[in-house]
Amino acid sequence: MNENVLNQTAKAMVADGRGILAADESTGTIQKRLSSINVENTEAHRQTYRDMLFTTPGFEQHTSGVILFEETLFQKALDGTPFPQLLASKGVIPGIKVDKGAKALPGAPGELVTEGLDGLRERLAKYHEAGARFAKWRAVITIGDGIPSDYCIHTNAHALARYAALCQEAGIVPIVEPEVLMDADNTLEVCEDVTRRTLEAVFIELDKQRVLLEGMILKPNMVISGKKCAVQADRQTVAEATVRTLKRHVPAAVPGIAFLSGGQSDIDATAHLDAMNKIGNLPWKLTFSYGRALQAAALKAWGGSDVDAGRKAHLHRAHMNGLAAAGKWNESLESAV
Ligand code: 13P
Repeated sequence: MNENVLNQTAKAMVADGRGILAADESTGTIQKRLSSINVENTEAHRQTYRDMLFTTPGFEQHTSGVILFEETLFQKALDGTPFPQLLASKGVIPGIKVDKGAKALPGAPGELVTEGLDGLRERLAKYHEAGARFAKWRAVITIGDGIPSDYCIHTNAHALARYAALCQEAGIVPIVEPEVLMDADNTLEVCEDVTRRTLEAVFIELDKQRVLLEGMILKPNMVISGKKCAVQADRQTVAEATVRTLKRHVPAAVPGIAFLSGGQSDIDATAHLDAMNKIGNLPWKLTFSYGRALQAAALKAWGGSDVDAGRKAHLHRAHMNGLAAAGKWNESLESAV
């Protein structure tokens, strides 16, 4: 394991004013996105859509890396350049989603465990050869009646650490993503408690399994009210609760934290990140690793054919989030396009 290389890559992923585009939807998930604009989910359409995103002029100023699905890592752009090479030529680091999805956790109704460890060492070698320099594994923690159980949290934390250790052995920076879902009717306080329990378990496992904290990136949820909660905490409260929880549970040795958007509106995801960076005096970089909050507007504007409109919408959200990663965003900039 080359600790220096891992640390350099991790730092580059959270470089000033830049964040990560999560474009790693599985074939099933991209189906939902494409059907929302009445585009058929074929390999050619997936290639055309992602080509539009990755050839957006200037997006690299705000984007340090892109998470790809396996198909895209081995696919070519429309001009014939392999996607990882196209990204690397713009100074954007190619990454790869390596988990095989969240499946029912045996004996734990309503809870999930992420699969994909078998054969991972061999897959990582192949991904590194294809140009991937970081990876992602998403664990899902569900809030509900009597859940999450410690069993679910522990099992997912253990798998995240096994994945992270294998990545580092292969010279690949692991994005460790324990996502506490925001879909239920819980308050922000419940989300804070579940996020606390989750992060505590994750960092115990990472330590036990000898994961180099300097060579990883954490991708957590924000501490936020559940979508169905009648009382929605305001942006400043979300920012303060998230920073408080992270400060308590994420060691300063971790170079950066790149949030998921998790179903927040585009503007909320940007505003929350900006508010956290405005708090300042943080031991790690705070940036974005958004999927929906970076792509929703671009997908709609593209609509299957309008490449210029899609790129324009993508660049705008990348720019806004880049500003938020530096604590330099304000809402009036949203209408300045
Ligand atoms: P969202 O930002 O849409 O939550 O996706 C981020 C991601 O990569 C989830 O694994």
